[in-house]
Amino acid sequence: MNSAPATKSLARARGMRTDYCGDLRLADVGRVISVCGWVANRREHGEHLAFIDLRDRTGLIQCVVDGAADLRKEYVVRITGTVTARTVETVNAELETGEIELKTCTVEVLNEAEPPVFPISERDGGPSVDENMRLKHRYLDLRRERMQRNLRLRSKVNQAVRNAMDAQGFTEIETPMLMPSTPEGAREFVVPSRLTPGSFYALPQSPQLFKQLLMVAGADRYFQIARCMRDEDLRADRQFEFTQLDAEMSFVTQDDVLECISEAVLAATEAVNGSRPMDVIPRMTWTQAMEEYGSDKPDVRFGLKLVELTDLFVKTEAKVFQSECVKAIRLPGGSELTRGRIDNLTDLAKRWGAKGLAWFKVKDGGEVEGPVAKFMSADELSAVLIRMEAVTGDLLFFQSGSRDLVRGVLGSLRLELGKPPINEGLSFLWIVEFPMFHGTSEAGNPIPAHHPFTHPHVEDVEKLETDPFAVRAQAYDLTLNGWELGSGSIRIHKPELQQRIFSVLGISPEEAQKRFGFFLNPFKYGAPPHGGFAFGVDRLVALLAGEENIREVIAFPKTQSGLDPMTGSPTPIVEKHLNELGLRVLPPKA
Ligand code: AMO
Ligand code: AMP
Repeated sequence: MNSAPATKSLARARGMRTDYCGDLRLADVGRVISVCGWVANRREHGEHLAFIDLRDRTGLIQCVVDGAADLRKEYVVRITGTVTARTVETVNAELETGEIELKTCTVEVLNEAEPPVFPISERDGGPSVDENMRLKHRYLDLRRERMQRNLRLRSKVNQAVRNAMDAQGFTEIETPMLMPSTPEGAREFVVPSRLTPGSFYALPQSPQLFKQLLMVAGADRYFQIARCMRDEDLRADRQFEFTQLDAEMSFVTQDDVLECISEAVLAATEAVNGSRPMDVIPRMTWTQAMEEYGSDKPDVRFGLKLVELTDLFVKTEAKVFQSECVKAIRLPGGSELTRGRIDNLTDLAKRWGAKGLAWFKVKDGGEVEGPVAKFMSADELSAVLIRMEAVTGDLLFFQSGSRDLVRGVLGSLRLELGKPPINEGLSFLWIVEFPMFHGTSEAGNPIPAHHPFTHPHVEDVEKLETDPFAVRAQAYDLTLNGWELGSGSIRIHKPELQQRIFSVLGISPEEAQKRFGFFLNPFKYGAPPHGGFAFGVDRLVALLAGEENIREVIAFPKTQSGLDPMTGSPTPIVEKHLNELGLRVLPPKA
């Protein structure tokens, strides 16, 4: 309940209504008004009278209606009545409009409705409705308060981001949806060409190549709220179709890009929450993130950092600790954990690739208790306790093995032990100095960690051919509460350097010309130094809304298996259409 006069959702409510339901307050008492919406609920009140809760996108208002016998849930109505103060004992403190009601109402039924297939009101147990049902009847699902709130929040974010980019001198430019294949890493959605049978367009995985060409074209500062399409396995933070705030700038350094993008996300956060969680988004190097948090998108809202112990075990007799890397996590108060829970964590660690999970509990007087304690020498043990700053009641978890494995396993364990709820705080964090390459392709060539157009660190360029994995990139990610929000880099603007990178990747000049000629040749005509960034709008909105799945902030998303239960897509197409496109469909694989 809110006694203050409401800010009107629309200063001038127009059309068939004078007001929105959720805006009415005590200050409106005495006014004769009209509201439009859906019947959310009805409760009988004596022989003729009924209480009708009317719902629109702003909320509910109670209407006392005489002769409402044929008004059913979800009927579309217009109600005209007098705003009246409720008596003290009938005030509903849970409702923003709970101090008033509409009386002496006339009701106009604008449309009838079949009973909804699931309850719309969240108070009727709404959120537990089966996901598939929700998506099949998304138009009903979107009527619900939570979804209405999320859609409005998303609109606010888009607007704030657009304003922030505009204010920083960026021009909004649209790039094609039908484009050639680009090497962004994910599988592409392709569109057959009717006029060039046998040829295909690709839907954009991102506007990457076009935005760089816009820099060659002198656009200087480009942005777009860009729809992108990637045919990848869907997860909580991944859909086939998603939206990026995509930007590119000329004559800039990494600092300039970080500053402009920081402004956009902080302005969006302010638009939603009324304030900024920080003035400047802190930075962390990729190496520090990996070593201390075991992740390139560390959730820094909590501690439980990974502590390096490798040097303490260089001469160890204990087989378990004879390895490239030993690290540990200290869980304060972890001595309380039951054996069952520890066994369960050990099983998880094994699922993440570990051979086992060593641990011990710290008891009074420096005593320790647990299966690995006996493997450590007294010196090792005391060095470990000092390094870990261990105190009575702690539980220490150890991981030993290759550096990648240790970071990965303890990084996951850390989240399992301490991750706060998604909506607790907003910790934006830049991760900088990514490596240039990550992993090796089947053909034995390094794989770009970001994309092949990323500029290496200037000091590291000479190591490209001799020690590629030691080359740092001028690439950076933005993370929020343990999610990757976005990525970007300073780009290569010199054709010779681009060719060197392609060579390292095992792409010959001929192949590069064939695949990216349209992109590379323009760079001979005066490409300015440039760099850019893209962040996922769906992910930012989800985190701002406190949602764990980006589906909750997309009006019409796909299911986990890529289907749209509402429209039934994807669907086969008719023979005639296939013929026109020069396509023949093979029988499904066995
Ligand atoms: P990247 O591939 O890292 O970079 O994508 C940038 C951001 O887009 C979002 N995103 C997704 N969101 C939902 N569903 C998906 N399937 C999905 N895939 C990506 C993420 C991600 O961080 N062209 C470069 C950017 C650049 O270098 O300027 C790019 O697209 O939030
Ligand atoms: P084992 O020597 O395999 O019997 O393991 C002894 C203890 O060390 C058990 O608690 C295992 O879970 C644990 N352990 C085994 N391998 C590793 C490893 N690579 N890192 C951390 N702990 C391990």
